[in-house]
Amino acid sequence: MKYNFEQPYTFANGVTIKNRIAMAPTTTMSSYYDGHVTNEEIDFYKMRAGGVGMIVVEVANVTAGGKGFEGELSVSDDSDIAGLSEMASAIKRNGTKAILQIFHAGRKSNSRILRGEQTVSASAVKPNRPAEAETPRALTETEITAIIHAFGAATERAIKAGFDGVELHGANTYLLQQFYSPHSNRRTDKWGGNRDKRMNFARAVIHEVHDVISRETNGQFLLGYRLSPEELGEPGIRLDDTMVFTEMLSEAPIDYVHTSMGSAWRTSLNDPTDKEPILDKLVRQLDGRKPLISVGSVETPDDADAVLTAGATFAAIGREMIREPHWYEKVVGDDEESIRYRISPYEMDELAIPVAMQHYLEGAFYSVMHFTNDCEPVPDYTNALAPMEGFEKKM
Ligand SMILES: Cc1cc2nc3c(=O)[nH]c(=O)nc-3n(C[C@H](O)[C@H](O)[C@H](O)COP(=O)(O)O)c2cc1C
Repeated sequence: MKYNFEQPYTFANGVTIKNRIAMAPTTTMSSYYDGHVTNEEIDFYKMRAGGVGMIVVEVANVTAGGKGFEGELSVSDDSDIAGLSEMASAIKRNGTKAILQIFHAGRKSNSRILRGEQTVSASAVKPNRPAEAETPRALTETEITAIIHAFGAATERAIKAGFDGVELHGANTYLLQQFYSPHSNRRTDKWGGNRDKRMNFARAVIHEVHDVISRETNGQFLLGYRLSPEELGEPGIRLDDTMVFTEMLSEAPIDYVHTSMGSAWRTSLNDPTDKEPILDKLVRQLDGRKPLISVGSVETPDDADAVLTAGATFAAIGREMIREPHWYEKVVGDDEESIRYRISPYEMDELAIPVAMQHYLEGAFYSVMHFTNDCEPVPDYTNALAPMEGFEKKM
């Protein structure tokens, strides 16, 4: 074995992943208008399956009101199961595990996407950005309970569809994060008021999903939690908040923690005097209690091994897996020379990149995709994902 990441990993529940490379979730924005899976999405994942240990599929909304953008995958209705089954079986090739990322977008949506409905969140606070963001309405207690149950129902659908796990998308300022953030959560009931109470929504979702997994599977099903370590702006989540949250996760019934960062070596965005990589802080806080998936600008095999050496259990690869679907096979097949580290718009069809995704890669993501110089950025007419916190800063 040339690289450490070639070693398998067995989770506490007995599920073995054949190597330590995960494909990070990368939204293709290519589902049907109703969130059903398209052939383009299946082809995208099929081409990237077989080598890496697991693929975390792009985010899917657990309720219709939780939709964050057009072309988003849905797991909110039983009619989604058939397409999701095809997707899971396309991924589960040659031992690759399929994990479905699930979320509710909360206030990071708009009334156009929600067909006239107002967005919702923990509290009625307008996001700092983008400037045109709408002010959400605060969820009622009954609605909060319904959303928690919807996370459970979505998990049941993922199980029926044949996925090997679900990942709660608690990052990138979506609803799970909105409940923890002192910016978006100003509640004074049991769902807010202080830092501990702001964790109650995440705790409740984890327990609901865990209960469904215990009831509907033999335990061989993974539950992950993804978080963004910091928010920009005041007030906002700071690293000490994240360490407290990580402590909660360390003791929670989840199988792994997954970070969301543009660079695995990122240091604090808010405190420039703090030079310690966030990865080191998280490894120390977790103290071996949960495996960690680290992500962010991992491109070469040495990059992947470096995050494992720092204490991560898995290295996740996002953009490089878009550019190079056969990254893992090329590394272990002694063909590293042919790994693509840049991409031309002219090869995107050949790489099974769905057309809608091509447009936003050439738009919002142009500067971070390593395009060859035979193309120019195109206007971002998809109004795609707002850049994630810190994404544009350190990529
Ligand atoms: C095109 C694109 C789509 C993304 N979609 C998602 C998503 O659905 N869910 C999520 O948690 N992160 C999403 N991300 C973030 C990635 O999972 C990852 O954290 C980020 O790209 C940094 O990793 P990388 O440097 O290997 O690309 C997306 C990133 C890109 C570039």
